[in-house]
Amino acid sequence: MTGFELLERDGLARLGRLVTPHGPIETPALLPVVHPDPARQPVPPEEMRRRFGLGAVITSSYITWRTPPLRAAAQRDGIHRLIGFSGPVMTDSGAFQQHAYGSVEVGPEEILAFQQAIGSDIATVLDLFTEPDTPFDRAASALETTIARSTAARAARSGLLAVPVQGGPHPELRARSARAASELGDVLAIGGVVPLLEQYRFVELVRALVAARPALSPGAAVHLFGAGHPMTFALAALFGVDLVDSSAYQKFARRGRLLLPDGSVPVEDVAEPFCRCALCAQRPLPEVARLPPTEREPWLALHNLLTSAEEMARVRQAIRQGTLWELAERRAGAHPALRAGLEEAKRHPAVFLPTEPASRRSFREVDRSSRERPAVVRFHRRLAAYRAGRPAAHPIGRLALRPEYLQHLPLEDSSGQPLRWETSSALGPVPVELTDLYPVGPYLGVDEFVDPPRHRPPRAMREEVAAQFPPGSLPERDWTEAWTAYQVRAVLEWEFGPAVASSLAPAARGERSRRTGRLRGIAGDGVPWFVLGTDGIPSPTFRGAAELHRRLPPGQRRVVVRDDAVPFVASGRTLFARFVHSADPGLVPGAAALLVDGQDQLLAVGRLLLAPHEMPRLSRGVAVRVTGHRRSPAPPAEETEPAGEADLPD
Ligand code: GUN
Ligand code: ZN
Repeated sequence: MTGFELLERDGLARLGRLVTPHGPIETPALLPVVHPDPARQPVPPEEMRRRFGLGAVITSSYITWRTPPLRAAAQRDGIHRLIGFSGPVMTDSGAFQQHAYGSVEVGPEEILAFQQAIGSDIATVLDLFTEPDTPFDRAASALETTIARSTAARAARSGLLAVPVQGGPHPELRARSARAASELGDVLAIGGVVPLLEQYRFVELVRALVAARPALSPGAAVHLFGAGHPMTFALAALFGVDLVDSSAYQKFARRGRLLLPDGSVPVEDVAEPFCRCALCAQRPLPEVARLPPTEREPWLALHNLLTSAEEMARVRQAIRQGTLWELAERRAGAHPALRAGLEEAKRHPAVFLPTEPASRRSFREVDRSSRERPAVVRFHRRLAAYRAGRPAAHPIGRLALRPEYLQHLPLEDSSGQPLRWETSSALGPVPVELTDLYPVGPYLGVDEFVDPPRHRPPRAMREEVAAQFPPGSLPERDWTEAWTAYQVRAVLEWEFGPAVASSLAPAARGERSRRTGRLRGIAGDGVPWFVLGTDGIPSPTFRGAAELHRRLPPGQRRVVVRDDAVPFVASGRTLFARFVHSADPGLVPGAAALLVDGQDQLLAVGRLLLAPHEMPRLSRGVAVRVTGHRRSPAPPAEETEPAGEADLPD
C-alpha cells in the first residue's frame, strides 16, 4: 500500500523517501504550513524551496473549502496552482480548526472528496481532535469515530492518505489508534498534541509517542501534527517521526521573535548582527529590528524558516552519522521541559531496543543522562548475562587493552586459579576483556579527560595488582599472549554465545594492530575470520560466517532469502526487503547476519539495515547489505568481484 522507503537509520529515526505524484519527499522533512491564499503567505512556497530546499508543504483543505473564492480557484486549477507550488502538497482536513474553534462545518466525506478533487498529494482524514485532558470514555468514543471515518476514507481514496492517531492521554487508546491507522494509512499522523507542544508538556508528548510508536507500521511514514519549534525536531525524529508540519516560523514572526535552534529572542534584543547568513548579509538583524511591522514580519518569517530548515537538515545529518541521541540531548538543554521529555523517553527502552543498532561509530556523552541511552541499557543487560557463572572479579584502575598494560595483568595466580579483572568506566565496572566493545570502547565522556587511561603508567597498574595479593602468590610472566587468547574468546562469546566461542576459540588467533596494540582481527587456518572495528565487535568475513554457520543452529543469526533472489545474493548483491523469507528475531540493525537459502545453504554474510520485524512491512528498499559472499558457481560476468576481495570487509 505504501511508498515509504528507508535508506539510512539511527535507531527508530529514518532517512527515507516517500514518493508522491508531485515527486518524492526526502525524510525527515519539515512541511511548512502555508496559507491557501497567496495573499496571506509571508513566504511563497516556491521561495521556500528555492532558498531553503524545502521540497514539500502542507496547507488546509478546510480553509480552502470554506472560503468561496479559494474553493472555486482550487476546484478549477488545483491546489498546487492555487498556493503556487509544484512540489508535493499535503492537505489537512479541518480537525485543527475543530480544536481552535470548537467545530467545523464540513463532513468527513465531503472534505475528503474535496481534497481528492483539488489534487492533494497526501489527503488527511477528518479526525476528531482529542484534547490532552479528555477523560477515557469520551476519548474512546471519539477515537471510534475517527477510525470509522478513516476506514471509509481508505475505501474512497486511491492516492496517499494520512490517517490521524488520536486517543488523547490514554496509552491504550493511542496504541489502538496506531494499530488501526497502520492498517489504513500511507502516512500515520500523530494528532491531538498541539496543546502539549504549545504548553511545553513534553513529558506527556513523549508518553503519547511511547504508547503509539510500537503499534505504528514501520512501512508507513509517520507525521507529527504541529511540531512547532525546531528544538523539538530531534526528539520527534528519535521516535521515528518522518514528517513534521510547523507554522512556528510565521507565528513567532508575527510576535517579532527570531527563532534560534534552542530558543527564540525578540528581534529588538538583537543588538549585534550575530548571524551571517545570506539574508542577514542583505539586511543585518539590528536593522530588521527597526523596520515597520509590515516589513519586519515577512523577513522574520523567512529567517525563522531558515532556522527550522537548517535544524531538520541537522537531524538528517545526525541520522547519517548515528549521532541523533547526541543532538537530542544537546537540544534538550534548551529547556528543562524538553529535558524532562527526553528523560521520559529514556525510561522506556523497550520502545527503542528492537531497532537500536548493534553499534555506532562513536558514543559522545553530552551529560550524565547520556548514560541512560538505549545502547547503554542493552550493554548492561548483556553484561549481566556475561557475568553470570563467572568468578567475582578484582577491581583495577582504568587501562587500555594494549600489551603495555596487559603484560602485567595476571590471568591466573600461582596455584592456577583464574583471576578476573574489572576496570572502572563511565558506565560502571566492566570486565577488562570487554572494554573495547561498543558503547564502552568508543565512549567519549568527561572521565576520559579527568583520568585518561593512556596517561596511566603501567608501573602504577602493576603496583595496584600486587597490592591485592600476598607476596609470591602471583607468577612472574608476560601475560600479553594469554590475554589475546582470552579476549578473543570473550568477544566471540559476547557476540555469538558461549557454545560458538568454545568451539571456535581453539583454532582462532587474535591479531593486534602493530600501531595501537588493539585487537584488530581474528584469523583461523591463516585466513581472516573476523575483523574488529572501533566498536570492538567481531564482524565475520565470508570465511568466518562459514565457521559460524557450521556451529549455530538453523534459524539463528540467519536471514532466509527467497528462492528468486538466491543467485543474486550468492553473487554479492544487496538483499531487498521483498526478497526476505524470514529472519532471526534476535537480530538488530547493524548486526552481521548469515544469509541462507531455504535449505540453510550459506550464500553470503551481510549487515542488517532493517530490524527483522520491519522486513515484512517494507515493500521496497534494502533489508541487508551484503559484505561478503560465496563464489557463485557461474556468476554473471559483471557481478564477479576481484579474487580475494569478496571476503574482506572494507
Ligand atoms: N493539526 C494539528 N493537530 C491536528 C490533529 O490532531 N489532526 C489533524 N487532522 N490536524 C491537526
Ligand atoms: Zn541570518
